[in-house]
Formats: sequence, C-alpha cells, structure tokens
Amino acid sequence: MNKIVLESDSLILRDIKETDIINIFNKVSPLNVRKYLSTVPQPYTLENAQEFVKMKLDNQLLEKRTSFDLAITQKSLNSSGIDSLELIGIISLSKIDYFMGKATIGYWLGEEYWGKGIMSKAVKRVIEFAFNDLNLNRIEIEAVVENIGSNKVIQKNGFVFECVQKQAMRSKATGKLHDGNTYSLLKEDWGKSFKI
Ligand SMILES: CC(C)(COP(=O)(O)OP(=O)(O)OC[C@H]1O[C@@H](n2cnc3c(N)ncnc32)[C@H](O)[C@@H]1OP(=O)(O)O)[C@@H](O)C(=O)NCCC(=O)NCCS
Repeated sequence: MNKIVLESDSLILRDIKETDIINIFNKVSPLNVRKYLSTVPQPYTLENAQEFVKMKLDNQLLEKRTSFDLAITQKSLNSSGIDSLELIGIISLSKIDYFMGKATIGYWLGEEYWGKGIMSKAVKRVIEFAFNDLNLNRIEIEAVVENIGSNKVIQKNGFVFECVQKQAMRSKATGKLHDGNTYSLLKEDWGKSFKI
C-alpha cells in the first residue's frame, strides 16, 4: 500500500518515519502522557522508541496493513512541505480485521498540545479513513474511566458507550489497574451525532 497522508483543515496525519524517533521519545516520556496507556514500556528508553518505529516501518510494507500508526502533525504556513512537519502525537487504527470489518483506535498527544481540539479532529479524520477508504463497518475505542479528556474526545465523535470492563487495563507506567469504558461506532450511525 502507498504511504498514507490524511489531511484535515488544520492537521496532517502521515505515516511514521525514522526521523520521528526522537519526538516520539521526548513527547511520550512524561508520566502524564503514559499514565493511562497499557502499551508504553516502563522505564521508557530511546531504544523502545527505535523498536516501535522499526515495527511500524515493517508494517507499512505489508500488502494488507494490520494497523495504520500515523504521526499527528500541524499544518503550518511557513513549513517547507509535509516532510518538515513535526510529530506532536500518534493516532493508530489497529487490530484491523478486514473480514469482520472492524478496527480499534488509540492515541496520545504531547502534553503541551492538550486542550486545543487536536485529538477530536484527528479521530474524526481517521474515522473517515476507516469507513470511506478501508470500507470498515465498526470502530472500537477503550478509555480508562478516569481519563476525562479521552472519554470526551470519543463522545464528541459520536461513539456509543457499550460497557465498563472492570479492571481491564493496567498502566505500564504506574502498574495500576483501571476500569475501562468500551465504545463503538458503526458506519450506519456515523455522522448522526458527532459534534466537531
Ligand atoms: C486524551 C487526549 C488524547 C485528549 O486530547 P486533546 O487534543 O487534548 O483533546 P481535545 O482538545 O480534542 O478535547 C476534547 C474535549 O475534552 C476536554 N479535555 C481534554 N483534556 C482534558 C482533561 N485532561 N480534563 C478535562 N477535560 C479535558 C477538552 O476541553 C474538550 O472538551 P470540550 O469539547 O467540552 O471543549 C490527551 O489528553 C492525551 O494525549 N492524553 C494522554 C494519552 C491518553 O490518555 N490517550 C488516550 C488513551 S485511551
């Protein structure tokens, strides 16, 4: 498959590159960013970021990709092209099952960019990609119950709450177990209730 570049009014979501390693390391390292994530190792090292990027570059070569892990970048008036736009976070469409027509969305954003509506817009664009370009039928998202910002991003995008899974998520950063809210969005319901 070709390299992915998804554009919205203010963002460009693009495939991860080797030159993103240092930004991934610097931006996901703070505990505040990792405390509700179950996948980011503890302690988190530059080698972890390198291994992560290598895995994603390998995945980009597959004929039928099982995940799309995209750098979130902000369009800038004085940039000299897509390649110069810096990664400020990652959004992933993963666990893709083309036969079942479903996938999962996960994401994080560097702390200095929180509260500006960026992730709500990034999720909106990835939903569009999943339903329109990949022709999927169902998208799932899980968020720790206490993660107010993430639950809001999900609800604003029209996802429907399905259940709470008790103690289903352990943060690698803190070792704590959390209850997780499970949400889904069906293609047939898409667009009926989002508020972005
Ligand atoms: C969760 C996260 C992705 C939110 O991204 P964001 O770009 O700040 O979200 P938005 O700006 O689109 O905010 C959406 C809504 O949530 C609110 N919000 C965001 N962060 C919040 C917080 N920490 N506490 C309370 N409300 C918050 C915003 O004010 C906005 O509300 P509004 O629409 O009523 O104005 C970001 O905080 C993050 O990366 N956290 C660490 C990683 C993480 O937890 N990932 C999610 C795993 S499921």
